Amino acid sequence: MPMCGIVGYVGAGSPSDRPQGVVMGGLERLEYRGYDSAGIAIVTPDETRLAVAKKAGKLVNLAKEIAERPLPVGTAAIGHTRWATHGSPTDANAHPHLAAGGRIAIIHNGIIENYAALRDELRGKGVEFVSETDTEVAGHLLADEVDSGKPLAEAMRAVARRLEGAFTLLAVDAREPHVVVGTRRNSPLVVGLGENENFLGSDVVAFIEHTRTALELGQDEVVEITPEAVVVTDLDGSPVERAPYEVTWDASAAQKGGFDTFMEKEIHEGPTAVADTLRGRMDANGRLQLDEGIVAPEVLATIDKIIVIACGTASYAGLVAKYAIEHWCRIPVEVEYSHEFRYRDPVVGPRTLVVAISQSGETMDTIMAMRHAQQQGAPVVAIVNVQGSTIAREADAVLYTRAGPEIAVASTKALLAQITAAYLLGIYLADLRGNKFPDEIAALLRELDAMPAKVQLVLDTSEPVRELARELADTKIVLFLGRHVGYPVALEGALKLKELAYIHAEGFAAGELKHGPIALVEEGVPIIIVLPSPRGRESLHAKVVSNIQEVRARGARTIVIAEEGDEQAAQYASHVFYVPEAPTLMMPLLTAVPMHVFAHELATVQGRDVDQPRNLAKSVTVE
Ligand code: F6R
Repeated sequence: MPMCGIVGYVGAGSPSDRPQGVVMGGLERLEYRGYDSAGIAIVTPDETRLAVAKKAGKLVNLAKEIAERPLPVGTAAIGHTRWATHGSPTDANAHPHLAAGGRIAIIHNGIIENYAALRDELRGKGVEFVSETDTEVAGHLLADEVDSGKPLAEAMRAVARRLEGAFTLLAVDAREPHVVVGTRRNSPLVVGLGENENFLGSDVVAFIEHTRTALELGQDEVVEITPEAVVVTDLDGSPVERAPYEVTWDASAAQKGGFDTFMEKEIHEGPTAVADTLRGRMDANGRLQLDEGIVAPEVLATIDKIIVIACGTASYAGLVAKYAIEHWCRIPVEVEYSHEFRYRDPVVGPRTLVVAISQSGETMDTIMAMRHAQQQGAPVVAIVNVQGSTIAREADAVLYTRAGPEIAVASTKALLAQITAAYLLGIYLADLRGNKFPDEIAALLRELDAMPAKVQLVLDTSEPVRELARELADTKIVLFLGRHVGYPVALEGALKLKELAYIHAEGFAAGELKHGPIALVEEGVPIIIVLPSPRGRESLHAKVVSNIQEVRARGARTIVIAEEGDEQAAQYASHVFYVPEAPTLMMPLLTAVPMHVFAHELATVQGRDVDQPRNLAKSVTVE
């Protein structure tokens, strides 16, 4: 039962190798969504059977298989890259799954919750199952419908009506060689519009190389693509009008662009991500423009609490924003992991603004938390990177982070863009609620505008961070300390090191040190410390300097990230990395960058797969 990447293609003219080329290219781009197995089905001129290849493991295994046993030319194809949840990552569980004696192939992203009952029903009719997946059930149901005389699209509508849970499904039938059908519920599916060819993908990156014109499929809709047409209906077969849109970035944005890894490239796109997220946000009156939807200013003016819901790195963006928004707007801000929020019976109502932060917009924990908040009457503003994703569609209003596609599993540039967008929201609220004078608002916006150039400076001077990472390649533990906005940055540093280098890394609030974690400190343990600016609140700087001395006295190797000109930092540090001067609240946009560079380099020298760390997937579309 996978959460996965999906591609579909159909083209005009005689059978060719284009369907295979398009689908394999799309899978390469979607591999970030899962890489436990990959497979492809080609619709060939033979009307009785499809040509299928599938392999456990990464896409290279499938590519090798196809190189050894080439697939025939065809008119259409579907392909899948899997992130296994139930059903181990074997060849048999890899998609596509076949039905009707190999005439129908189906691929799936999501979970069919009522699959056990459906499987029993099908077994009762004599169907034999060859995999442990829920997907196969949908394939056999589809075969039943097609056998009763329905065209593929109509059969898919009938199947979707019977399924419970979350799914994107694509299917092909050898007897309809110029048709691919798809449907979705709680899982993404985007259509790419070409000339005499059309595409389907979990994400536009699947087909961006071929077309930038896309349309999104709504909840519980079915799409039929042929070379000439795209027909969208609801599950009852009534036509649905969907307006196409132009994707604003191009194929090169989804390539490595000269870097060795996507993550490295994306770290270097940090300045652009911040600049693009800031660009053109204010209307003529200096008021923030949300990208989609609306939460009425009267509502925002009367909210008495903000709850940020997010997971992982996105939650750290929320934690950073808490410090800023509380300071600017004098509204209490809670930050909660989406998965914890939903199950603790949170106190949420129409006067609570819920801010959902997510790069993918598909994180199921955050989707469910958002829905829960909406049921309690809370307005939800989403800060999301992927256009048209579920969170973007379901939120009351959206502020897009314009970080461009983030392919590496570990989030980097999106974090900077999320902090930037959350700050814009905070500044907007401060303005709307009269917490700040217009000149103060203008000053904050100017400070933000200055940040992309400063992030660039951090990147330009990051070689010593890489050198140190190489030196520490054999370390078994790294601790991270931070205080105030430096605390979420410490958490981020630790998370990145864990997920990329698989070593024990922990982030602590520096003030907590003496309440327990200091017991971890022994001779030679590297501790990365985010030192607040001495120009900020004096006591904050002094307290962290004391922490540095405390751990140093116990033999730690102190690695300090300090502001340019902070003389004291060098006195107690084994290594200091300076970032440019910036206001305290803007600092995380700079101090997070060495964390990313450090983790990337350390994992690289250890020979890890930096873009696709083990056991992880880019979009966590299951709870
Ligand atoms: C860590 C990382 C994850 C994500 C988290 C939320 O590097 O990438 O912790 O931040 O899974 O994902 P989104 O932002 O897509 O909701």
